[in-house]
Amino acid sequence: MGTACHVRGAARVLDRLKMDLGIDVGEMTKDRLFSLETVNCLGSCALGPIVVIGDDYHGQMTPARVESTVKKYRKKSPRKKDEKD
Ligand code: FES
Repeated sequence: MGTACHVRGAARVLDRLKMDLGIDVGEMTKDRLFSLETVNCLGSCALGPIVVIGDDYHGQMTPARVESTVKKYRKKSPRKKDEKD
């Protein structure tokens, strides 16, 4: 992660994402809805920490906002959390 996001708590956001999604960096959820990757910088440092889901950028992310953000995408998906192919 980039410096600006790091100093604003990106590590805590990442830890919360790992916990809520049940995956580590480089892995994908069983339903294939989420994968987890880190990047050095997205070029929007003033908005950090930033979480990108699909084409959507979520700036000023906090650990407390992770759960509601993930839930929003789970609701949109026709796939269920534990669905397997
Ligand atoms: S450090 Fe996060 S967008 Fe630049």
